[in-house]
Amino acid sequence: MRILTVVGNRPQLVKAAAVSPQLRKLAEEVLVHSGQHYDHELSAVFFEELGIPLPDHDLAVGSGSHARQTATAISRLEPLLEQERPDAVLVYGDTNTTLAAALVAAKLPLPLVHVEAGMRSFDASMPEEVNRVVVDHVSGLLLCSTETALENLRAEGLAERARIVGDVMADVARRFGPIAEERSRIHDQLGLRRGEYLVATLHRAASVDDGPSLRRAAELLAAVAEQFGPLVFVVHPRTDGRLAEAGLMPTLEANSRIIVSKSLGYLDFTALIRGSRAVLTDSGGLQKEAYLAGVPCVTLRPQTEWLETVDSGWNRLAGLDAEAALRDLGELIARRREESPDPAIYGDGRAAERCARELVSWLEAATAP
Ligand code: UD1
Repeated sequence: MRILTVVGNRPQLVKAAAVSPQLRKLAEEVLVHSGQHYDHELSAVFFEELGIPLPDHDLAVGSGSHARQTATAISRLEPLLEQERPDAVLVYGDTNTTLAAALVAAKLPLPLVHVEAGMRSFDASMPEEVNRVVVDHVSGLLLCSTETALENLRAEGLAERARIVGDVMADVARRFGPIAEERSRIHDQLGLRRGEYLVATLHRAASVDDGPSLRRAAELLAAVAEQFGPLVFVVHPRTDGRLAEAGLMPTLEANSRIIVSKSLGYLDFTALIRGSRAVLTDSGGLQKEAYLAGVPCVTLRPQTEWLETVDSGWNRLAGLDAEAALRDLGELIARRREESPDPAIYGDGRAAERCARELVSWLEAATAP
């Protein structure tokens, strides 16, 4: 049995780090990198640190508008999938790479499996929401992280194709969290003491592509640093470009309570999160990674796909409202002195094994006489 997996972005590399080794115990895997992420810090470092097998093909799609990026990925994937003719195609998450691979597979057609299916923000203006909905509807097997995801799929009439396997990022967090603590020197490099700083990230189109929103976000970070600092702002290359264009970078860099860092590899970033007092982010994956590390999170978006983190009280949705963010941080940090989040809601660390087993038994059932 040959499975062709398509990755292309940082969060997909983390998920592949969990799933690829399990899949390779049961089947042959052909790994394809779209090249949507190409900087060392967003791609190569993950292969090195997480021991992901090197890709068999790199399509060098690179950056561009949604249409151009997705279209380039589609046109490079189609001949490759025709040539490889795998028994199934495996995709992760909700990026343009995921969408492109899903469309090509669905139209050839080839059986398509979606890991992290059923996530919904119910905000149709998010590019990721469009990608998720389309990918789920053209997939044959939908592997869900949570009960909420399964319920979302049920509401769209897709429950029969869905199975809950648990969260594969939780597998990676459990395995590599302690390794990160041991190996990373990030605290010394940035002159930080564990438990005394906050971490912030921003990269969503809604936060960084719109000038006024980006300015509000920068002001919010300055207000947080003023009250709770020091704050490490780990800057995605997209955000770096937008902040420079808007002339906001010099002010952030001049703030003595803000440490501006470029994107970090998995181990340094994980060690940084695990040692922090709290996290502020608009990332989906980081809300969950913070939760798994026992660190409270203030989400700089009005909604989330990871409802369990909010329901448990360890993640607050502040949008770009600085007052709300300050209030939420104060409350979460105070609560953390008394108790900590329960990581068990995202599975037992064996989600990837279940993904591989479900995939193989689904394909066997489909081809049984
Ligand atoms: C993409 C995903 C997003 C995911 C994120 C993880 C889509 C629509 N978005 O966002 O869901 O959460 O990956 O990080 O697929 N850039 C570089 N180097 C790189 C890659 C990007 O400098 O290696 C810069 C370029 O200026 C590029 C910009 O970042 O134009 C945006 O990159 P893109 O791949 O379009 O989306 P992300 O913001 O990374």
